[in-house]
Parts: sequence; C-alpha cells; structure tokens
Amino acid sequence: MEPTNKLPKDFLWGGAVAAHQVEGAWNKDGKGVSIVDVLSKGAHGVDRIITDGVQDDVMYPNHEAVDFYSHYKEDITLFAEMGFKCFRTSIAWPRIFPNGDETSPNEAGLQFYDELFDELLKYNIEPVITLSHFEMPLHLVKHYGGWYNRGLIEFFVNFSRCVFERYQNKVKYWITFNEINNQRNWKNPLFGYCNSGMNYTEFEHPEQVMYQVIHHQFVASALAVKIGHEINPKMKIGSMIHMMPLYPATCKPEDMIQAQQSMREKYLFSDVQVRGHYPRYIEKEWQRKGIQVDMAEGDAEILQAGCADFLAISYYMSNIVDAVPPTDEVNPLFGASRLNPNLEASEWGWQIDPVGLRYALSELYERYEKPIFIVENGFGAVDEIEPGKTINDDYRIAYLSRHIAEMKKAVTLDGVEVMGYTPWGCIDCVSFTTGEYMKRYGFIYVDKHDDGSGDFSRAKKQSFSWYQQVIASNGEII
Ligand code: BG6
Repeated sequence: MEPTNKLPKDFLWGGAVAAHQVEGAWNKDGKGVSIVDVLSKGAHGVDRIITDGVQDDVMYPNHEAVDFYSHYKEDITLFAEMGFKCFRTSIAWPRIFPNGDETSPNEAGLQFYDELFDELLKYNIEPVITLSHFEMPLHLVKHYGGWYNRGLIEFFVNFSRCVFERYQNKVKYWITFNEINNQRNWKNPLFGYCNSGMNYTEFEHPEQVMYQVIHHQFVASALAVKIGHEINPKMKIGSMIHMMPLYPATCKPEDMIQAQQSMREKYLFSDVQVRGHYPRYIEKEWQRKGIQVDMAEGDAEILQAGCADFLAISYYMSNIVDAVPPTDEVNPLFGASRLNPNLEASEWGWQIDPVGLRYALSELYERYEKPIFIVENGFGAVDEIEPGKTINDDYRIAYLSRHIAEMKKAVTLDGVEVMGYTPWGCIDCVSFTTGEYMKRYGFIYVDKHDDGSGDFSRAKKQSFSWYQQVIASNGEII
C-alpha cells in the first residue's frame, strides 16, 4: 500500500502546450491552413480578429509561435532535465489532413509527430495528446460551415482513427477536445471559432446552433473513444473542460441557485462525455427555450458507448455570480460572472484562487468517480530579464506552489484520484486569448517578442530549478 499522505509514485508530473501555440512552421511540409492561422494578434482588452484568409498586412503570431517545430529536441532535453514524466501537446489536424476532407493523410505531418513522440519516449516522457486543441483545417470552416455541419463528425473520426493507428504504441494518454465548454459563452466570437469554427453571434438563434454544434462534437468524441479502445484497449482517452468554479456572490439562497445553475454550463459537457447521456436539466432548459437539437438514430447509443476514461481539466481561477448581476462588473471573457473581491488577480484579470482547485477537484470527483488529470494551471505574467539572463519569476513559483499544495490536500485529505499535473505553457508560447508573447507562463523563457523581434533562444527561469525539485521530491518540496 502506498502511504496515504503522499502523492502516488506514478504521478504524472509534466507540462502542457498546444501545437499552434508553440510549433510555428504554419505552412511547412504540406501543412494546411488552420483556423488559428487567420487569428490576428490582440492584447489585454483588444480582441483578436478572425481575418478572411491570410492577409499580407496582418500580424499572425501563430505562424511562427516559438518555433518548437525546429527546436523540439532542445526543448525536450530541458523538459527531461526538469524530470518531466509526461508532456501534453496536441496534433495539428491540418498537418495530417491539410484540408480535413482528404482520404489519405500527409505523410510528412505524420512523420513529424513520430519523431516528436520518439524523442519524448527516449527520455521516458509519456506524450499526452489532444486531438483538437482549438484547431481544425480552415477549409472545413470555409467549405462546410464548421461543426454545424454533421459531416465534420466523419472527418474528425477519420483523423482520430489515423493517428490512433499510427501512434497506438507511442501514445497512451489522449484527450479529444480541448476545453470543449468554452463555446457555451457563445457571445464571445473567439471561443465559438476556436472550439468549432463557428461565430454563433451571426445566427438568428445562436444558442440553438451552439447546442447542435456541441451535439456533433459529443458524438464525434464518443466515436473516437470507442474506436481508440478498439485499436488499442490500453489507450486512455479523456474529455476535457475548462473548470472555473463559480461561487455565489453572497450567501443569499438566490445567489446559491444562480451559482448551481451557472455551473451546469460547464458540467453539461463532462456530464455527457463522462456519463454518456444528456442530463435532465438540459432537456428542461431546451424545452423552456424552445431549442430543438437534431439527433440521429443511434446517437444516444454512441454517447453511451464512448464514455471518457478520465476527465481532464484546466484550472486557472474562480469567479463569482449573482442572481442579479451588477452589469458594469461582469467579466466579458467569462460570460456573466465577475471578480471576487476577496482574491487578487493577475495583470490580465485572472484571479488567483488555489483553494478553488481543491474545491473543484472534489466536486468533480464526487460527481463522476473517475480519475482527474490537471492538464493546465499556471500564471501568465510579464517576465523581466535581469543581467546575466536571470529571470526571477518568484510570482509564478508562488502561484504554482500554492496550487500544488491544495491539489495535494484534495488527494491526501479528500481522496480524489488525480492522475497528474501539467502546468500550462511550460515553455513560453503564444497566448490563446490575446495572441501575445508577453503573457508568459513558462519555466523556459523564449526570446521572442510582440514586435516580431527575438531569436527564439531559450533560457531557464528561476522556476525551472524549483519545478525540478518539486518533481524530484514527488511534490514534497514545493
Ligand atoms: C486555456 C487554453 O484556456 O488557457 C490554452 O487551453 C491557453 O490554449 C491557456 O493558452 C491560457 O490562456 P492564455 O490566453 O493566457 O494563453
């Protein structure tokens, strides 16, 4: 028996990124144009623009990102030096199927991931692979209308089957869709676009369209889980949500009910993907709103046959909700929630709530009794380089350390099964929401800047040796 006051010996410590935020090489070796290749650079409070194709006079940070495509060997050496047991990234779908509707894959794209996974395995680092991390071929949006078109299920399944077959002996841990629930905030065009190639605000009945799109993704995800298990029963295939606990703003019962109902906007996704069926509360909501979701015969059975093996979450912050929200305070990035006056926030307004991580883990584990993988957590900040290339990111160490402490309580005091912990942006990368380089998360600094300057050289931050020690002590020294 393992001691109950410690993390399990096989705990998966590592780091996380996504293909489009690190790789660059946006048009190399036969890769097709991805939806993120037409996302301009934004800033805090300045939206990223979705352009109509790639335009000459627009800056697209994901085109170069941090050039992981050429630097991955050097980067993996650094991950190994930190002691990573796993590394989470995604496969860029358009590297494998440039347009998404081809019948045979692009061999050069497959070869790249073969080499990447071999390099990780050389250091005993398990790849943890997301099939769609805010990526799909742009062609599927332009010619098929994104995930509103049921035909996308087949394209996604073909892509999934292809990579499962190819990497079944290299990749054990898979995640179908990254933060599938972001698009529930349909008023924010970035989320619908990155999740599904959709801009819900353009439709007369945006919520109806959103639920239809989501249904297609639920079916696609469940089919992928089923096919993956048939290809290799040892593969563990999870679903993922962006977990942001919403606390009631006060102890008024009405605020409590509001918090419970708002959390359904997240739980719907894990309820369907982990339990394999739609919960009754959503049927009631659809009836009230007159929403009709087309489901084909056999869809219910598909959902039931493709339940996720584990639930992956990203956790950055919590927010609060009120029955009657003060409209001038709501946080547009996160729907109708607002900031908690009891918590501090990062420069980007992301609140720091380590205790919320323990709360979230217990809530989810008690709901599903399935292992939980924390595949994102981290602190986006501006890092200053001091003389001698020292980067003292003690604020990042403080954030991560406090979250790890609460995660350990969830495991050792509450009995939550946590599979692993992969802090986001373990190497600096392009921010998703703003497209900035200056919002850095890494243990490894990359010399690349928002004005386009920089030579992509890598440097270790203070947090690098701190995290090395965390892993070496299996979380005892934090
Ligand atoms: C998650 C995404 O929402 O948050 C990542 O899965 C993203 O892709 C991360 O990068 C942090 O967000 P941002 O906007 O700070 O990069």
